[in-house]
Amino acid sequence: MDDIDVLVSEVGPRDGLQNTRQFMPTEYKRRWISAAAAAGLREIEVCSFVPPKLIPQMIDAAEVVAHALTIPDLTVAVLAPNLKGAERAMAAGVHKITLPISVSHAHSLANVRKTPDEAVAEAKRICELRDSLPLKRRPKIEAGLSTVFGCTIEGAVSEDEVVRLAIASAEAGCDEVSLADTTGYANPEQIRRVFKKVRAEIGEKLGGAHLHNTRGLGLANVVAALEVGVRTFDSSLGGLGGCPFAPGASGNIVTEDLVFMLEAMGLRTGIDLDRLLAIRKILAEGIPGEMLYGYVPLAGVTKGFVPASGAGDSRRVKA
Ligand code: COA
Ligand code: ZN
Repeated sequence: MDDIDVLVSEVGPRDGLQNTRQFMPTEYKRRWISAAAAAGLREIEVCSFVPPKLIPQMIDAAEVVAHALTIPDLTVAVLAPNLKGAERAMAAGVHKITLPISVSHAHSLANVRKTPDEAVAEAKRICELRDSLPLKRRPKIEAGLSTVFGCTIEGAVSEDEVVRLAIASAEAGCDEVSLADTTGYANPEQIRRVFKKVRAEIGEKLGGAHLHNTRGLGLANVVAALEVGVRTFDSSLGGLGGCPFAPGASGNIVTEDLVFMLEAMGLRTGIDLDRLLAIRKILAEGIPGEMLYGYVPLAGVTKGFVPASGAGDSRRVKA
């Protein structure tokens, strides 16, 4: 990350599409991923390896991964809810696997039919499988702690439980533990407090922030996380997203608005905003009628805006 200050990880093809009414044709997924990489995004969560019966949108997961792997220097990330999903992801050759581990007991059961501790035990089995692979083929394993800041089923979530599960996930062998506001419940003060608490216990294993914008606090929460040293943020083009198993959860923070804010703050993302904004056309065509969010796409950038990464200066634009 020498030439960027913040890593923006696009999760729309997974978090966004798992929640849309229509199936996005595979060709559009490929175009979205290629265009996002060409705009300078370095990590994209391209799909999840879940039973297609449960989430039909992900039926073409292996095909989508195969395409993403042809893009140079792109970290191809996926989500896998269990060992079977992780096996499929490893067979497909992904670079990174996120395992959802919900802190809320009720959400954990609704989402993966396991208690949080059972999900950690599954993470341990997945890490053992990773360790059985040759070094070069081992994906990075991220425990994605979800419903960290509150749950639409249970309400308040215990911060002690967040810390306990973060430690348990790190001890299970996960390379990183990220914290997700799956339900858009977090406020900036809570973000600062919980990230600091978890870092105090697991140090460098603390990964990024996965934030939803359900109550409009998404970017305020990004600033709070930046203040306590978080440098990786998940976001979704057009603000698509939401967990089908957390009633009332809505979209992720909007990649376009996030990149504008970071670049305006002097933080380099390596992403070309014009190219990023152009991708909305692919989404509008691929899932017609689906609501796309974002303020910068409507208002445009400010007059005289100078992105920290330099105008038209993203890595792939230059290449
Ligand atoms: N990919 C493909 N098929 C899978 C699978 C996977 N990851 N995991 C299980 N299956 C298959 C099994 O082989 C079995 O098939 P069969 O009926 O033909 O024998 C069937 O699905 C049921 O398997 P089981 O182990 O009993 O799973 P389950 O029904 O208890 O479901 C999860 C557990 C974790 C797979 C499911 O709850 C899930 O996918 N949750 C994630 C939901 C999600 O994506 N949420 C949003 C993102 S956080
Ligand atoms: Zn999410």
